[in-house]
Amino acid sequence: MKMNSVIGRFLQSVLVVAILAVLFAGCSKNLTANTDALYVPTTSDVTASATLTDLQAGRSIFINSCGRCHNLYSPESYSASNWKSIVPGMASMAGLTTVQASQVTKYVSRGK
Ligand code: HEC
Repeated sequence: MKMNSVIGRFLQSVLVVAILAVLFAGCSKNLTANTDALYVPTTSDVTASATLTDLQAGRSIFINSCGRCHNLYSPESYSASNWKSIVPGMASMAGLTTVQASQVTKYVSRGK
């Protein structure tokens, strides 16, 4: 009886690891660990809705907070409208404030 529950627990952890592996492998193609590849905002990236300060803050928050659980997804991986639906959920998992979340969104969507 005792042995069975040990085996059960073992199989349970194998299953959890397998599910996590599939989850992360499934979206690995857009990921980068190379922060040099991330565009550095300049005045030419400024738009009506994103100041240079927003974009620069967004880049550093993105690098510091968005690569903890998975490698960073490059801004080019998604359209601006996709980013707008993805960032809020991720920002809350990353513990960002509303302002920080908005700056990350501006950075990854290139101020759109
Ligand atoms: C607490 C862990 C954690 C943090 C921090 C985190 N993520 Fe994620 N992220 C995940 C997990 C887990 C998935 C895969 C499951 C999912 O899509 O919800 C994921 C998936 C994604 C995806 C793929 C979504 C899709 O639909 O293809 C993107 C893009 C992403 N994260 C961006 C971000 C950004 C931007 C931040 C920073 C604001 C961030 N993540 C912070 C855990 C995290």
